[in-house]
Amino acid sequence: MNKTKTEAFGAEEQKLAEYCKALSHPARWVIVRTLAEKQTCVCGEIVEILPLAQATVSQHLKTLKEAGLVVGEIDGPRSCYCLNTDAVETMKNRWQGFWQSIRIPNRTFESKNLIYNTMTEVKDKEAVKAMVREKYAQIASQSREQNLSSCCGAGPCSDSTYTIFSDDYSSLEGYVAEADLGLGCGIPTEYADLRPGMTVLDLGSGAGNDVFVARRIVGPEGKVIGVDMTDKMLELARDNAERLGYNNVEFRKGEIEALPIARARIDVVISNCVLNLVPDKQKAFDEIFRVLKPGGRFCISDVVLNGELPAGLNEAAEMYAGCVSGAMQKSDYLAVIHNAGFENVEIKKTKPIVIPEDILAAYDAKASDLPVIESITVTGQKPEVECGGPGCC
Ligand SMILES: C[S@@+](CC[C@H](N)C(=O)[O-])C[C@H]1O[C@@H](n2cnc3c(N)ncnc32)[C@H](O)[C@@H]1O
Repeated sequence: MNKTKTEAFGAEEQKLAEYCKALSHPARWVIVRTLAEKQTCVCGEIVEILPLAQATVSQHLKTLKEAGLVVGEIDGPRSCYCLNTDAVETMKNRWQGFWQSIRIPNRTFESKNLIYNTMTEVKDKEAVKAMVREKYAQIASQSREQNLSSCCGAGPCSDSTYTIFSDDYSSLEGYVAEADLGLGCGIPTEYADLRPGMTVLDLGSGAGNDVFVARRIVGPEGKVIGVDMTDKMLELARDNAERLGYNNVEFRKGEIEALPIARARIDVVISNCVLNLVPDKQKAFDEIFRVLKPGGRFCISDVVLNGELPAGLNEAAEMYAGCVSGAMQKSDYLAVIHNAGFENVEIKKTKPIVIPEDILAAYDAKASDLPVIESITVTGQKPEVECGGPGCC
């Protein structure tokens, strides 16, 4: 049941609201400030300091008096007014406490259900993943055009339609338009050397764009498994597969840092513009190593940096979800791959990423402040013989 304002709020809140309402004109602020500065009651002078007619000033004084901020007395022919010190004291105490209790974030970004503050406030790994999951659930319900005009579908939209990261898949065999949300930053199947009969795993499979292309290559004897942690994305991917009647694809819910796949089952791991979103990249590559068969390989397209991002961009949660600020330095990225135990690591393709000025402006950044941001497509191989096994020295 709806309560009236008087029933729903306390007397103090109502009084403060009345004071604020009485101050909703600049002339009344000037009157209150003048009375406060004088530290005494003022007779007549108020009219002299305001560029308004006497009748108008009287009207403003009346409003302040009715609200209880000012008390007035008649002193002979002239009106005299004083501040109501009790009222001012209440306002002062409450307002000071009110403003002190407010933490001002550097910038807030609104998503459908959450308000994301800066990355400093989303620093815990689980919180980062929750933010990424939330963002990609929202992206799953956006149009492809909307996703193409922003970074990985996240962040503010550019005025013009930019294909910031994603490549044109439309001529690839197996392409399913409904699965292409414009979220990739390369074409990992291009250098994955997929063959008929292989078992392929796509990490962060989204709506299934790369899964469906890979499926065509591995054929009915092969299998492609997509893993994603966002329910809405899995829903889109499964709907696509069901509609097309594909039975050599499977979409599993899971996190890349703890893959729902047994050890040494996969011939090739592919992934498109996802690992930059994973807070623990070493764990991600360790998992890739674990699930690959000996001699198996990966082909991954991802975003990397060559230099530091300006603070505004680096701190923006939307830019993290947008595949930019979660990206590692290229040299560190390659070191993580080597640490996981991979060999024959090769960068097959590099593509510069240009973030349009109108997107940068939203983060107080300019193109000239940016390091080189690239999409790379990198391959690597798990050794035929794992260390610790027979034949390993
Ligand atoms: C930029 S989109 C790329 C989607 C897809 N690869 C494509 O090119 O269309 C990133 C996807 O990775 C998923 N993702 C991000 N972090 C993940 C994690 N730690 N574990 C599993 N999935 C993750 C998101 O839910 C999202 O669907």
